[in-house]
Amino acid sequence: MKLYEWSETLCVRIEAIDNEHKLIYDKINDLSLSLSKGEPERVLGQTLQDLITLTSEHFATEEQLFEKYTYTDATQHIAEHNKFRKKMEALLIIYRDGRYALSVDTIHYLKDWITIHIKSYDMAYASYISKKINISA
Ligand SMILES: [Fe+2]
Ligand SMILES: [Fe+2]
Repeated sequence: MKLYEWSETLCVRIEAIDNEHKLIYDKINDLSLSLSKGEPERVLGQTLQDLITLTSEHFATEEQLFEKYTYTDATQHIAEHNKFRKKMEALLIIYRDGRYALSVDTIHYLKDWITIHIKSYDMAYASYISKKINISA
């Protein structure tokens, strides 16, 4: 069973973006499952790395959209992405050094950050960009 269920309330109504958000959710579920099954550190570390890669690629997709549609609040949004990028990188470094064991709390934190970010920052740019797409269609 998935710990974190995707919900319609998280849809930003831009298909490519919703698909990427779902993949990130799936990866957080994989991480949670690996932890609860007591999988080896090697597996957990790889899943954490995959989550970071997926999230970084997703942020890049969004940032390209901001540029394409000259999104007015891009600077603040990108600053939020950068804060999270730094947190994830720091997490991976201390995890790889063996100074930190992945916990349920950390996985909750990652899931909560993504969820709150989608509901606030991503919804805002999606609504702005959707209007521009409709105007130019
Ligand atoms: Fe997003
Ligand atoms: Fe975002």
